[in-house]
Amino acid sequence: MTTLIVYATVHGTAEQCARRIAEKLDGRADVFNLKSGPVPSPAAYDRIIIGSCIYGCSVLKEIKDFCAKYGDLLLQKPLGIFFACFSDSKQDEKEYLSRNFTPSLIRHADPVSALGGAFYFTKLNFLERLLDRHLAKKYALSNGIPVPDGKTDFITVSEEKITAFAEKINRSGSSSGTEEAVPDDH
Ligand SMILES: Cc1cc2nc3c(=O)[nH]c(=O)nc-3n(C[C@H](O)[C@H](O)[C@H](O)COP(=O)(O)O)c2cc1C
Repeated sequence: MTTLIVYATVHGTAEQCARRIAEKLDGRADVFNLKSGPVPSPAAYDRIIIGSCIYGCSVLKEIKDFCAKYGDLLLQKPLGIFFACFSDSKQDEKEYLSRNFTPSLIRHADPVSALGGAFYFTKLNFLERLLDRHLAKKYALSNGIPVPDGKTDFITVSEEKITAFAEKINRSGSSSGTEEAVPDDH
């Protein structure tokens, strides 16, 4: 069983989620950053996972480009989608899907999960820290959790959700998949 995991990230949360998922999957899992250049065609894999951070309810452009390029192929394989983001409301998850993916991909994708988010305050520049402190405070207040101090990293990524996502992926798919993974310009 082979799995292609593609992700797009700004600050690294989506990458960490992708790598944790890969560790929990049966068989071979290849992890690729869509911003870093060519990735193998999904044709060479048994199942596909797409992961993106969310900014202003949107996934990154690279995710949209990947789905536009391989949309038909993605419909033929088990497909999971995860979001690295702070919201864990099902309503927001639906909104992130409908704003960023085609109806056919939305119907096909299973599981879909928001795995949590992070503000890496220790790595941000002054302006980013200012903006993220404001957002983190808003998030904390609306979720009834202590307001982050804006200096130490603030991480809500859920290991439980990552495990549940990976387990569902492990239950999906066939045992075929004989094509070679060949890098493909996109
Ligand atoms: C400007 C900005 C906009 C954001 N918009 C959203 C949002 O619409 N929904 C959400 O749940 N989280 C939102 N977040 C939180 C990010 O999704 C979260 O920090 C995530 O971990 C970023 O992933 P990355 O580290 O892979 O870039 C936002 C963060 C920033 C800084």
